[in-house]
Amino acid sequence: MEETKHLVGLLLGTEEDWPTAFETLVSRLGPIKDASGAMHRVTTERITMEPFDLRDKPRYDLVVDRLAYWYFLPREWLKKVALMDDVYLLNSPFTFQSMEKHAAYCAMLRLGLKVPQTVLVPHKNPPDNARFAYTAAKYNRPFDLDEIAEGIGYPLFMKPYDGGQWIGVSHIRDSAELHRAYDESGQRLMHLQAAVDGFDVFARSLSIGAETMVMHFRPEEPMHDRYAVDHGFLSDEVGEEVVTISRLINAFFRWEFNSCETLVRGSEAHPIDYANASPDVAVTSLHYYFPWAMSALLKWCAFCVVTGREPRQDLDTRRYFEIGDREDLSYEEKLAAYRELADAYFEVDRYRDFCDSRLAHVDELVLDWITSVDFDRLLVRTVRSTYPAHEHERFLGHFRGLVGQWVSERGATATLSE
Ligand SMILES: Nc1ncnc2c1ncn2[C@@H]1O[C@H](COP(=O)(O)OP(=O)(O)O)[C@@H](O)[C@H]1O
Ligand SMILES: [Mg+2]
Repeated sequence: MEETKHLVGLLLGTEEDWPTAFETLVSRLGPIKDASGAMHRVTTERITMEPFDLRDKPRYDLVVDRLAYWYFLPREWLKKVALMDDVYLLNSPFTFQSMEKHAAYCAMLRLGLKVPQTVLVPHKNPPDNARFAYTAAKYNRPFDLDEIAEGIGYPLFMKPYDGGQWIGVSHIRDSAELHRAYDESGQRLMHLQAAVDGFDVFARSLSIGAETMVMHFRPEEPMHDRYAVDHGFLSDEVGEEVVTISRLINAFFRWEFNSCETLVRGSEAHPIDYANASPDVAVTSLHYYFPWAMSALLKWCAFCVVTGREPRQDLDTRRYFEIGDREDLSYEEKLAAYRELADAYFEVDRYRDFCDSRLAHVDELVLDWITSVDFDRLLVRTVRSTYPAHEHERFLGHFRGLVGQWVSERGATATLSE
């Protein structure tokens, strides 16, 4: 029977580990039968950079992007294929404009989420623009940084409004630290944000399409130890709340591949970082959770291309704000209403049904591969290219142990098949 082919393009930077994992799993996926009985086959290809005519037709049905946030050529190519060819994107560059934290904070505040008090302060040093001095002298009001900080209360955080990877983030306890950090911020635009002091747990949730994994994150540890393997670290209610907040914000901004950070104090969930265009999915950070991430990426890509899910570039903010603006609804009622919208956007039920009926073999396939020599070789290569030679043994043991735990929890042992 004729198969419909779906090519998934990978737009990559320096990483090798998860792309190799993903390519291997897709190559083992086999044909998928849709509800009408038609057959589909998913393949992958790494996308190369070259000149393109704006009328060229891309060969890809879907692109997983890890590059365009940083570089203009792939970004402009993605915009072209989104606008002209309806290629499905994880994520669309049209959503980058809100990828600075600031926009996510604004939306979350209006939706009634518990974002700590946040103030945007002007640049310490002027931007490079010959006309700025004149404009600033005329229109910029002097302000008292200490007064703003005292209004928020110490301790607080100063961090770039568009930040990532902890760059330029400072924990501030007093006025001297405040001024030091502000002087160092230079031309970067900064938020001052109330600290969620004494929080009990830091939850980091990675979402891929309709799936979200909420993980216990320990930011004080080195990268390979930040995700703790811990299943009962949140109550069921708070765990569900974190999933809802993640799905809500992803549906709101049309992000399909994103990681979110929430600080949980008592039973209160405070979102602090909800916009990561290119979330970290390296095996050396996710370890135990890596098989889940690869299988979720595989399933979501297959679901999108096989069912012909249409990419959406338009935001539907009004429907969310209509709920957020209501005064007769409690926080919990609003969350429940958002969850319905977000679940509908991600077609959660249809996705689950598709996974059960069309991709029933995928969990086994992932488990087989993770227990194979092939995966172990990838792990060895990744460890060798990530850490200095004297640490190879230690890190290999570390990651084999954590991935091994994932395997044994599934009742399997390493078969070391090819
Ligand atoms: N309001 C806050 N309360 C407590 N800790 C915070 C707060 N904001 C940031 N942090 C700490 O600083 C880290 C970096 O801040 P974050 O907003 O996540 O920036 P980045 O985008 O650089 O990751 C967080 O992971 C957290 O440990
Ligand atoms: Mg962060």
